Amino acid sequence: MTLKAKADVWLARPWQCLRRTRALGTTATLAPNTLQPFEAIPQYSRNRWLKMIQILREQGQENLHLEMHQAFQELGPIFRYSIGRTQIVSVMLPEDAEKVFQADRQQPCRMTLEPWVAHREHRGLRRGVFLLNGPEWRFNRLRLNPNMLSPKAVQKFVPMVDMAARDFLEALKKKMLMNAHGSFSMDFHSSVFNYTIEASHFVLFGERLGLLGHDLNSGSLKFVHALHSIFKTTTQLMFLPSGLTRWTSSRVWKENFESWDFVAEHVTKCVKKVYQESAKGRPQSWSVISELVAEDALPMDAILANSLELIAGSVDTTAVPLVMTLFELARNPDVQQAIRQESLAAEASIAADPQRAMTDLPLLQAALKETLRLYPVASFLDRLLSSDLVLHNYHVPAGVLKSFKVETKEQSDVQMAYRFVLVPSPSPLLTFRPAS
Ligand code: HEM
Repeated sequence: MTLKAKADVWLARPWQCLRRTRALGTTATLAPNTLQPFEAIPQYSRNRWLKMIQILREQGQENLHLEMHQAFQELGPIFRYSIGRTQIVSVMLPEDAEKVFQADRQQPCRMTLEPWVAHREHRGLRRGVFLLNGPEWRFNRLRLNPNMLSPKAVQKFVPMVDMAARDFLEALKKKMLMNAHGSFSMDFHSSVFNYTIEASHFVLFGERLGLLGHDLNSGSLKFVHALHSIFKTTTQLMFLPSGLTRWTSSRVWKENFESWDFVAEHVTKCVKKVYQESAKGRPQSWSVISELVAEDALPMDAILANSLELIAGSVDTTAVPLVMTLFELARNPDVQQAIRQESLAAEASIAADPQRAMTDLPLLQAALKETLRLYPVASFLDRLLSSDLVLHNYHVPAGVLKSFKVETKEQSDVQMAYRFVLVPSPSPLLTFRPAS
């Protein structure tokens, strides 16, 4: 977690908590047992110019999470560094993160994700919750929550995710049956990315994209490609000042803007369609956006802005944990078997009441949580603090695994790369076989 220091003087936490990090394997020297000034926080030093050249040459910072890990090991649970005149403090312990979130109070303040904000500003588009801070964030967030996060909303969209999941499984099954060996191996990441886009698009706009069958719609494929390209170009641009990348990475900026333009055009069409249907008084199927429109919860340009961020925020974040859960289950067949038994035992109750998928599959839930712990999607979170501070968690439809056994020859750990979210690189090869 990174914090940008606005205050001149921050105080490091007493050193007894640093002792714990020695147990975590840090070689950091112990801090004194008294309140220390900001300057006493261990400093992470790196040559800024060399780092910028490295980011330009490597087109991003794929090993960012490893560098952070190393810095924590060497310097302890809190360290600071600067980018230009901005002081950044990084913390890793849950109790420190808790303190920072408490300091957030009701309105978090986060650093600007420059490439995304630049696109919105150049195209005269508003920002949604992902890019907003302060009262405007809170206003938008309070209007989104009832249709995104409330148990009532979850109850509405669980069957939609379930429908997309069943189609995805049907397509996998067909592939398996077409193969002479009755099994097939694949790079699961790209397929599951299509599934998460399909499910998320259905829940948000009430419309299917057709990404799960054999004959994929070319417009939908362009949409998938544009989303991939947004993530790729974002990591190429986000760590360097735009004043520099304007000259050094003009092609990357062009690709980033063109991809956002494509996604924005598509999302605008979907949102306008919901408004048109609503104006005609036609009965609409439930979707997050149709509810927001029906309730007049936000102006149209704010609904559009949030739709852009919800679609971008929902795909890789859910695809990667699914890939990594299957990878871990493939190399832990006993756990896979236990989850299959749990799933089979819960089948009837969940068929009668799909909401029970949330309560009747504790082992599956634990496996997903453990995946998120082992492979955290976001390698860091940032907050800008406004005052001084003293410092130190899906739905997986029932039965997803029951008709398949997933295997992998790869027993060693998978390397993760930072590409806006942490992704497996290379993606593990998974083999799907009918479960006997
Ligand atoms: C396992 C799945 C997911 C993970 C691990 C994840 C992770 C995160 C994280 C770490 C943040 C930053 C929170 C912060 O700054 O405090 C975030 C924010 C956000 N995520 Fe997700 N996410 C997931 C799924 C989704 C889905 C399915 C959607 C959309 C349907 C979504 C949309 C968003 C949005 C809009 C924000 C900004 C929220 C705000 O600032 O108010 N995420 N997510």
